[in-house]
Amino acid sequence: MSNYHIKHLEEYFQVYRKSVRDPENFWEEVAEEHFVWRKKWDKVLEWDFSKPEIKWFQGAQLNITENCIDRHLRIRGEKTAILFEPNDPNEEAENITYKDLHGRVCRMANVLSEKGIKKGDRVVIYLPMIPELAVSVLACARIGAIHSVVFAGFSSTALSTRINDCGAKMVITSDGSYRGKKTIDLKGIVDEALNDCPDVETVLVAKRIDSKIDMKAGRDEWLAPLLEGAYGDFPPEVMDAEDPLFILYTSGSTGKPKGMLHTTGGYMIYTAYTFKNVFQYRENDIYWCTADIGWITGHSYIIYGPLANGATTVMFEGVPSYPDFGRFWEIVQKHKITQFYTAPTAIRALAKENLDFIKKYDLSSLKVLGTVGEPINEEAWHWYNDHVGEKQCPIVDTWWQTETGGILISPVPFSTPTKPTYATLPLPGVQPALMDEKGAEIKGNPADGRLCIKYPWPSMARSIWGNHQRYKDTYFSAFENKYFTGDGALRDEVGYYRITGRVDDVIIVSGHNLGTAPIEDAINEHPAVAESAIVGFPHDIKGNALYGYVTLKETGESRDRDNLRKEINQVITEHIGPIAKLDKIQFTSGLPKTRSGKIMRRILRKIASKDTGNLGDTSTLLNPEVVEEIMEEAL
Ligand code: PRX
Repeated sequence: MSNYHIKHLEEYFQVYRKSVRDPENFWEEVAEEHFVWRKKWDKVLEWDFSKPEIKWFQGAQLNITENCIDRHLRIRGEKTAILFEPNDPNEEAENITYKDLHGRVCRMANVLSEKGIKKGDRVVIYLPMIPELAVSVLACARIGAIHSVVFAGFSSTALSTRINDCGAKMVITSDGSYRGKKTIDLKGIVDEALNDCPDVETVLVAKRIDSKIDMKAGRDEWLAPLLEGAYGDFPPEVMDAEDPLFILYTSGSTGKPKGMLHTTGGYMIYTAYTFKNVFQYRENDIYWCTADIGWITGHSYIIYGPLANGATTVMFEGVPSYPDFGRFWEIVQKHKITQFYTAPTAIRALAKENLDFIKKYDLSSLKVLGTVGEPINEEAWHWYNDHVGEKQCPIVDTWWQTETGGILISPVPFSTPTKPTYATLPLPGVQPALMDEKGAEIKGNPADGRLCIKYPWPSMARSIWGNHQRYKDTYFSAFENKYFTGDGALRDEVGYYRITGRVDDVIIVSGHNLGTAPIEDAINEHPAVAESAIVGFPHDIKGNALYGYVTLKETGESRDRDNLRKEINQVITEHIGPIAKLDKIQFTSGLPKTRSGKIMRRILRKIASKDTGNLGDTSTLLNPEVVEEIMEEAL
């Protein structure tokens, strides 16, 4: 039996049982057999969820890029590591072999090092989906600098908040980016952000579009000439298994975004192991994940997991609708994609279009289809299964989070029978629990509760950058001795899990986590706004859309409502980014509040979803009359 590659259901159960009976031994075997270490560990695991403190492979030393690049050079040097597919289908795709990747990462590492970046320094990367993004990430890992990739759709304010939170000295960006027909002035956004970031010393700029940008003397430098002059080798920095690898920000239900801190050794083995099993990756497969590297999916399943397995991983710069809605399928045919991994929101958007967009292309290379980021509804699941997979490809509905680093619950294709809308079973080493409202674990099936994980897995986040207390409060305080995911879930008769959605004030819009509080804070910056509350409501394509209830100050009362709506969305775009724009804005004379002053979102959520048959207990409301008014106006 191989721990590393599960091939049938019985083997899954055997491996799973072994992984739970003796997790340390299980992960030790995986780590021993499939990775290169400079020094082996003294101890596999030390953990205490009450602190919380989690340490995997203490004492071990390695460099993740040695595992993702160098060790493949001898046998896979000429194999494509990264296949870059540009936004414009007429621009040629680029095959970056493992040998090329090694040279490019080393040159970039030399540039970073010459600019004074050392082990432990933070580097913010704000780049579109071009090869420089993957190369920058890996170059940071090569020299032991901590990368923090900020999704290049975030606004300048969101960018400056993240730069300052992690204390980055350097930003890597590009002159601009392509997005379908549009170009975006990324450097302009960086310039604006840096007005508020006094500690940034260097900005490296990749050239992507033909635009004129300002280069600030002494701070900004074009990347290409620096790379040209740089040496093509760089000895990997020797890192401890628990040294930080990256910080990636995710929205919280309140306050600033949380800089989830991931470390090196455990993250590497878990992402590699799950990539191999969840996608049943085999040598010569061409794997494509459509996510952006600005999200955790891109970190773990475009870069680290695939490269640690010596895979060919596709990086796509464009969007599914450009030049038309057949783009994804054209790429599948062109590169003979074998595993395709995308988000339910993309599936729903494409399912709305004419089937001719898909019928034109030969999708017979596909073997496994994946989804991630939000619950997939039954209709979208069947469309994906019938029209993309032609009923021949298992669908892996993978449940996980920025915090978990890797996939925790998912079918293992060709082993676990799939079931629409179910993420099915925990992967080896993952011990889920459903908890009731009183904090007790619900044993037996079926069950419905709050989803927790009882035991550490190697790729879990170790902290929130600069705020360990918040890490403890958010994830380890709701249920004793358990990691709380913030999600609700059902478990059916056979033990399959179905994730039902967030149970906190995070709303998932088109697969992006959005906290309500930061959006409300942004809206409240508008001079005419007194107060606001955001809730989610069901949306055909996005899964959820945002509904804002806004109370105006007296000065705002006389203003034109449509103009105000536009201005409010403008403020949100400036503070967070266009992904957080509201679909509906209702002006109200007040918000329903409890006597302690807490906004009763439950009621607002029901009204936004037009589910007003039973509003539940409203007896604790301070101002019940406002509910009537809001309802009348909304319906
Ligand atoms: O609510 C769950 C939902 O996305 C949240 C995590 O979001 P993020 O940290 O941005 O990571 C997304 C990519 C891993 C989860 O708490 N979610 C993720 N995958 C699924 C899902 N909900 C249902 N089914 C999934 N497969």
